[in-house]
Amino acid sequence: MTTQDDLQGLLSRMTLAEKIGQLNLLAAGEGLTTGAETSTPLAKRLDAGEVGAIFGTKSRASTRAMQERAIAGSRHAIPLFFAEDVIHGHRTIFPLNIAQACSWDMELIRACAAFSAEEASSEGLHQVYAPMIDISRDPRWGRVAESPGEDPHLASCIAEAMTRGLQENNGGRVSACLKHFVAYGATQSGRDYDNATMAWEDLLDIYLPPFEAGVKAGAEGVMASFNAVNKMPMHAHEPLIEGWLRRTAGFGGLVVSDYTGVKELVAHGLGSAEMVVARALHAGIDMDMVGEDYLRHLPGLAEHGLDAPETGLFISAETIRGLIDRACLRVLAFKAQQGLFEDPFKGMDPLAPTPNRQAGRALARKAAAGSCVLLKNNHLLPLKPGQKVALIGPLGSDRANMLGTWSVSGDARDVVSLEDALKAHDWASLKTAVGANLVREKWLVDRLNVHGVTVEPDPRDEAALLREAREVAEAADVVILALGEAKEQAGESSSVLCPDLPEPQRRLVAELAAGCTPVVGVIFAGRPLALGKVPEQVDALIYAWHGGVAGPEGVADILTGAAEPTGRLAVTLPVHPGETPLSYAAEPTGRPFPGHFQKFLTGWLDLEDGAARAAYPFGYGLSYGNVEYSAPMADVPGGGEAGMAEISVDITNTSERAVTETVQLYLSDPEARITRPGRLLKDFRRVPVAPGETRRVTFEITAEMLSYHVAPSLAEAQKVWDPGRIIVHTGPDSRATKSVEITWGA
Ligand code: BGC
Repeated sequence: MTTQDDLQGLLSRMTLAEKIGQLNLLAAGEGLTTGAETSTPLAKRLDAGEVGAIFGTKSRASTRAMQERAIAGSRHAIPLFFAEDVIHGHRTIFPLNIAQACSWDMELIRACAAFSAEEASSEGLHQVYAPMIDISRDPRWGRVAESPGEDPHLASCIAEAMTRGLQENNGGRVSACLKHFVAYGATQSGRDYDNATMAWEDLLDIYLPPFEAGVKAGAEGVMASFNAVNKMPMHAHEPLIEGWLRRTAGFGGLVVSDYTGVKELVAHGLGSAEMVVARALHAGIDMDMVGEDYLRHLPGLAEHGLDAPETGLFISAETIRGLIDRACLRVLAFKAQQGLFEDPFKGMDPLAPTPNRQAGRALARKAAAGSCVLLKNNHLLPLKPGQKVALIGPLGSDRANMLGTWSVSGDARDVVSLEDALKAHDWASLKTAVGANLVREKWLVDRLNVHGVTVEPDPRDEAALLREAREVAEAADVVILALGEAKEQAGESSSVLCPDLPEPQRRLVAELAAGCTPVVGVIFAGRPLALGKVPEQVDALIYAWHGGVAGPEGVADILTGAAEPTGRLAVTLPVHPGETPLSYAAEPTGRPFPGHFQKFLTGWLDLEDGAARAAYPFGYGLSYGNVEYSAPMADVPGGGEAGMAEISVDITNTSERAVTETVQLYLSDPEARITRPGRLLKDFRRVPVAPGETRRVTFEITAEMLSYHVAPSLAEAQKVWDPGRIIVHTGPDSRATKSVEITWGA
């Protein structure tokens, strides 16, 4: 065991250059592929002891080679740590995070994270850049794919479950790195890398709670985000990093920059390359990812300090040296925590066994089925044996796009397409047609194929594709329409102007809806797409997201009834892309939307009345069975700070199928110090209910659940709760609830 004293002793023996070297976090790039003779830039850095950690290694052998080189290059034999983007799986790719969030199943999410940790640690990795816990309410933002969705409570549960899963030592653990700190999902216009401006109350009550939950669960790392929050870029945000994160939330781990995030402060307008290094270090960024600006500028700063009246900054050389010590000690402590001083080569033995891929695949399939949200079902699903099925659409035979955006170590060959998955069930003679292209424009196809070709448009014209689709549909009893997005249409740097189902696909839906064969729509996407009239045109509809290696098999399990649909939306599906950003938890206005357009009331002039409410609200999802809810019953013995109320609701399965119902509890505070969200999710319970069974579900409400922030500034933020009227809503989603009013005593 390396003790704090050992680390202090080590620090005291290190030169300034050695300390600065520990703060340098580099990408593996091509690695050390040609062995000991290599003189790549990375190898030179390792020989000089100028690297603290490396991310993105691709094999045990190259990881081992880098570790050997680093230890040989360090006077004190300080090992590297290795990190990787294991966002929704490592080799075994699980459903996108937004998809997993729709399972509302924390045990499943924990298990997927734990398996990813097993795979990652078995390849010599110590840290993963996950969980990504940026709340996002804007479908234009491509990274909504990696996010836990729109709600702070659900996201906090996910932050905790993933952190536990990654860090538990059950066959292999890795260190979790919460990201991106903070409000990266709230950027202007949904544009990636843009800035966020918001009330401090929103930051404290919407965007920070998942980080608080992750810290509480023991996360050992945090990554800063690219955006500014209220004018201060996060890589220089001392009040949020050293202030809120460390002092308020009690985080004691390592803070890393995002990719060249320190350098980018120059483009943000915070000063010269040297100035921004001082600012980032002072703000609490311990390691500089890729940019190497710490390596370049800290030696000079440690000698001269910084006197920059143009940015209002004065930091003495002594202070800089103290900050370098602070950051270096955090890096060393992190390495000690990972057991690296005892065993720097753990997981790098080329002959060691690898985790059981079959077990991972089975889990991935379960997660894929659990992530599907059944949006509509006119008694068409599950499919009946013997039905003649046609599979139409650009994603019916697809494999590569199913992996989803973060699949750096995944392999499309591991994916079973929906076509093959259905054939393996009962439909060996399934007929298929492309029906529509995902995209057609060459420039857009090129952008989507930037990380390898996943989009190859069918060269036939649209009329020919539609004709073929019609013919295949006419010969079938039921059509399955596999629609959606390519994997690169979502994810980093894939913000879109118009997050809706692309027009050629909507034309395909309209074409087939005009025929006589019933249609099941399956949407494979990385964001909540505005579906327009699609829900009215199809007979059944599943939102399947990009489901990973076993995504299509999970969908096939739902289609055939081998698995029950249990998913619920973790994010509201808009009707129209112009409604964004969008959340069930919007604040009320003085002129509330009455459910249709009315002059001088909140609403959209150009949104048709029939479609005037969000198509599918947060929390929504159907089962194959049916559950009825009683009104909530309240027992409020008192109130006050330590008070507790009990809310019970009876749910009855009125169908002949077993159901797992997600019972949701929302609270509204209609009289408060400031305008509060119309309602907020505070708790939920996944409850199995047998046919004919009634179950009572009981929730407890505490004063903490009623509390919220009032914050004229970050420094003056105060958490308060008010006695008085509270409306409690229970139900199957954020809209279809029944309510009871309670009075919370002072
Ligand atoms: C992303 C991070 C990621 C990092 C390293 C950045 O561009 O924003 O989420 O962890 O790259 O790959």
